[in-house]
Amino acid sequence: MKVAIIGQGYVGLTIAAFAAEHFEVIGFDSNQKIVNQLNSGKSHIEGVESALLTKWVKAGRYRASAQGNDIRDCEIVVIAVPTPLTLDRKPDLSFIDSACKTIGQNLSKPALVINESTSFPGTLRDFIKPTINEYSSAQVDHLYAISPERVDPGRSDFNQKNTPRLYAGLTPEASEKTRDFYSKFCDNLVEVSSPEVAEAAKLFENTFRQVNIALVNEFAQIAHSLGISVYETLDAANTKPYGFMKFTPSAGVGGHCIPVDPTYLAAVAEEHGAPATFIRRANEVNLEMSEYIVRRVSEDNGGTLQRKNILVVGVAYKPNVADVRETAADLVIQHLRNQGAVVSWHDDIVGSWKGESSTPLQGADIAVVVTKHDSVDEKKILASAPYVFDTSGKVKGANGV
Ligand SMILES: NC(=O)c1ccc[n+]([C@@H]2O[C@H](COP(=O)([O-])OP(=O)(O)OC[C@H]3O[C@@H](n4cnc5c(N)ncnc54)[C@H](O)[C@@H]3O)[C@@H](O)[C@H]2O)c1
Repeated sequence: MKVAIIGQGYVGLTIAAFAAEHFEVIGFDSNQKIVNQLNSGKSHIEGVESALLTKWVKAGRYRASAQGNDIRDCEIVVIAVPTPLTLDRKPDLSFIDSACKTIGQNLSKPALVINESTSFPGTLRDFIKPTINEYSSAQVDHLYAISPERVDPGRSDFNQKNTPRLYAGLTPEASEKTRDFYSKFCDNLVEVSSPEVAEAAKLFENTFRQVNIALVNEFAQIAHSLGISVYETLDAANTKPYGFMKFTPSAGVGGHCIPVDPTYLAAVAEEHGAPATFIRRANEVNLEMSEYIVRRVSEDNGGTLQRKNILVVGVAYKPNVADVRETAADLVIQHLRNQGAVVSWHDDIVGSWKGESSTPLQGADIAVVVTKHDSVDEKKILASAPYVFDTSGKVKGANGV
């Protein structure tokens, strides 16, 4: 059986690597550079080893392509393209639209189309299906299903195999075929009664995280104002064996999911006249953290950051990955520069970002730790500047937390 996966990023390539063990996989991506790299066996995604990719390429089980025509005889097509926000922070379905175009214009036989991209309830039924039909020249009756992705890049304890996967088809046949497909490489499949429930569950999972992160970020500010340790307080609360889940403070939220997905839920809620007050406020609190941190750093350093050499340590949005999408480091750097600081950053995993390169971990007036990768030595961070502010909670002995 031949499977096409549209979008070869974090989600699409991860699925491709698992699926290639059981199916012939076409990894379709609109970025020719990524396609060339993948066909030479080089993975650009943490968690997908180049050695495994090379094995599948050599065995003829995996081929990347930017030519829509290459998906023409696939029996299953998985959509794994970005679902970002527009500049005015509304759901942007343009990448899904373009994936639908590729499917509509190239699939001439009925196939099973599964969406893994995160979007609001109704996307499969009211957008994907009609859009593919609109782009199709031949009248083809595809089967449609949703199975929202839960991959956590860089994580080794939970993967495609042991992370329970939700799914639902638009018809019982679509559900059954979707189950058959994923059961090859996923141990725990959970069917829900409609695609809308699966779509909403994915958004609610990430909204739960977003709101709890905002709550702990606000609590970090409360604890500081009360002169108590936020970390000790959280550890104390966490001794309760039920009804509490520990989240830790940070400089904000980053990545493709937590800062974005809840806004998809808020948008659809407000469209239906339902309130989304928690989501909107949580977003504000998380965005405001960067400003709060810069204010604290300034207060601890004589009230001004003018011409201070400040090193931001870790610009990836989370530890041990190179992903800088929506990283909180961006806002921290902007606020520091607005205060007149001379800012450089250190992150050897990211390497280069926004036309700048990682600088050595030394010689600064102030260091602000946004993300602490496991490979970065705590002692070196503490030695990099006479004043270190740690937003990660991982640098024992920092001057400010
Ligand atoms: N990254 C995660 O941790 C994660 C987890 C769960 C769900 N998701 C969701 O999965 C979806 C994909 O996210 P991602 O992180 O894999 O994105 P990504 O940016 O890593 O990869 C997307 C890929 O799609 C390609 N692409 C864009 N438009 C295309 C098109 N029309 N045709 C073919 N290729 C196209 C891009 O070139 C890119 O390589 C999003 O909806 C996201 O919210 C992501």
